[in-house]
Amino acid sequence: MKSGVKYPLARSTRELEAGELVKLCSNESPVGPSPKAVEVLKQEAEKVGEYPDPSSIEPKKAIGEYLGVNPNMICMGNGSDEIMDLACKIFIDPGDKCLIPIPSFSMYEIACRVNLGEPKFIELSDFQWQTKGLLEALGDVKLAFIGRPNNPTGNSIDEDGLRELLETGKPIIVDEAYAEFSDYSVVDWTKSYENLLVLRTFSKIFGLAGLRIGYSIGGPKVIKALEGIRPPFNVNRLAQSAAIAALEDEEFVQEVKNMIITGREYLQEELSKLDFRVLPSDTNFLMVGLENLEADAPKVCDYLDENGILVRDLTNFRGAGPNWIRVTIGKPDQNERLIDALKMFKEG
Ligand SMILES: Cc1ncc(COP(=O)(O)O)c(C=O)c1O
Repeated sequence: MKSGVKYPLARSTRELEAGELVKLCSNESPVGPSPKAVEVLKQEAEKVGEYPDPSSIEPKKAIGEYLGVNPNMICMGNGSDEIMDLACKIFIDPGDKCLIPIPSFSMYEIACRVNLGEPKFIELSDFQWQTKGLLEALGDVKLAFIGRPNNPTGNSIDEDGLRELLETGKPIIVDEAYAEFSDYSVVDWTKSYENLLVLRTFSKIFGLAGLRIGYSIGGPKVIKALEGIRPPFNVNRLAQSAAIAALEDEEFVQEVKNMIITGREYLQEELSKLDFRVLPSDTNFLMVGLENLEADAPKVCDYLDENGILVRDLTNFRGAGPNWIRVTIGKPDQNERLIDALKMFKEG
């Protein structure tokens, strides 16, 4: 079954020298992984002739300590994307509906469709989270996806609202891919809500997107069901060992967080000065509105591409449109390059 949904991967249309391109389109970490994780990868490379631990016991222990949960409440995935797919397999049958607030991460729709589910989209009015509409929409669905913080809006449903959704007893997936950039999480709630599955990833603050390792935290019943259908060797040897080293390097993670928050504040201020509408964000990206400009997203993105900068055009992002782009926070010099290019764009 094909989802029919294209996963957008921005690529430059130009030939560029290595290092020349500023990639602010995929919400990756601009500094990549901890050097300690890279060191471990080199050592582990010697052992790739052997299969990985199918139960990912060591990463689960490390994550358990990191989050204060029992390792048996964790299921690992080949990226958190894989767990979205596995969750659809356990919660929905063909024709069942999945609630997907929009705009949000396109993989929710893909996971739903490839499992023969039917997405039920609910538009966030002016990109704000209203519990009432979501509660009403939950009525006939089997599963709901909630990004918290949400991609691309950068904001979250509040705790009271989320509690109301959970009280319905419907399975709710709370995707916390960007939690490390915010100061909130509902991982602890998995101890009291059996219908809550929280997703986390090593692709964002830990800078390991290319290795594909993510995980979920949930109650014993859900985790057992996920473990029951997970492919045995879904998380490779390199990913398992690098994830542990990445978690251990707390100082590095804190530095990345500080850099991103400072960069976020800088970009928020400078973009606002240039008359862009910048939505508040608890993540490593900003959703940026162009309604005050005489240009749409394809035009802005083309201009930036010509100047060696890639950002995400949200024209085809369900629930966003041609007035919106999404910008990943980069290193300070990359953020400055973006602002300089946008100044030139505005000056014509
Ligand atoms: C909201 C959200 N969840 C999950 C992911 C992907 O995570 P992973 O790389 O672990 O599959 C992304 C990546 O952009 C994302 O934006």
